[in-house]
Amino acid sequence: MTALSRVLLKWYRQHGRVLPWRNHPDPYAVWVSEIMLQQTRVDTVISYFEKWMKLFPDIQSLANASERDVLNTWEGLGYYSRARNLHKAAKIVSEKFNGELPRNLDDLHSLPGIGRYTVGAIASMSFGMDEPTLDGNLRRVFSRLYDVTEFADSPVGEKILWELAAQNLPKGKAGDYNQALMDLGATICIPKNPRCLICPLMTICQSRENGTQDIRPVLKPKKKVPHYIHAAAVVSRVGNPTYVLLAQRPSKGLLGGMWEFPNARVESDPIRELTKTINAAYKLKVKRKDALGVIQHAYTHFKVTVHAFRCEAVSIPKDKSLKWVRVDELDDYPMGKVDRAIARMLW
Ligand code: ADE
Repeated sequence: MTALSRVLLKWYRQHGRVLPWRNHPDPYAVWVSEIMLQQTRVDTVISYFEKWMKLFPDIQSLANASERDVLNTWEGLGYYSRARNLHKAAKIVSEKFNGELPRNLDDLHSLPGIGRYTVGAIASMSFGMDEPTLDGNLRRVFSRLYDVTEFADSPVGEKILWELAAQNLPKGKAGDYNQALMDLGATICIPKNPRCLICPLMTICQSRENGTQDIRPVLKPKKKVPHYIHAAAVVSRVGNPTYVLLAQRPSKGLLGGMWEFPNARVESDPIRELTKTINAAYKLKVKRKDALGVIQHAYTHFKVTVHAFRCEAVSIPKDKSLKWVRVDELDDYPMGKVDRAIARMLW
């Protein structure tokens, strides 16, 4: 074992976080937690993980679940393709691999939503294999430990970082080693103002020696995210506010398969443009009534400001992706944050 892994594992025994999926005997639990943790903070994931494991305690129960239940349980975590891929992969595991996550790494990699990071995480943490993994925290830790000057988000940087991740793996303890690095990255080697003075690896960190912590990892400048204005319509029938119209998004892409209030992008003035844009986008005829509220939301690649209005239906086409839903049953329909916020305004 190298000095780095010895010191790190000792630190992990003393300071590692107690998390519900750690030391879980079931690879499925590790898989679910790793998928949830890919884009979401640990504090947020814990309650979602516990609820998920109650509702879908094993791969078979997930494979048998409806997409609506799966998306409903995921609601609020964002990046919903993660949930759809978990669901798809559970069905494949159930049919092709006897209901158990395959130990063969190529088979594991072939499952929807399981990339190189997840393969390494599952293999090391639940199968005890000596496999490296690399997520955002580990990229930052290794970039600093070895003062990596290549762009961390370039193919060359990637290659160097994966090699570094594999370099110090302690035999039989790769799972703890990988998780120790995750905890170090989340609590000590943090992006801004890293806490070098209490870092167990302080004396071997090249970035600390060179004073380059603030400029590692080296990342390409971020593109400015565009900001869009949308108008959304909460459509009910004339004189009957019990039902509102929901639209289901296409199954692929952003918020795939989730439900939303009919909405459309506008140039500048949501009040003036609402009915024209909505009517055109959904082949509806609606009339604008009162304003309900304004919601801001940031997605990964853009921001939106959504202006929501009550509307009345003048005419509605028959369309499979449009559905009249009782206001008191809106919770049964999985929605993104913006539409859930609009739904809450109807209480
Ligand atoms: N982030 C991703 N996977 C993690 C894990 N297993 N423990 C802590 N943080 C993580």
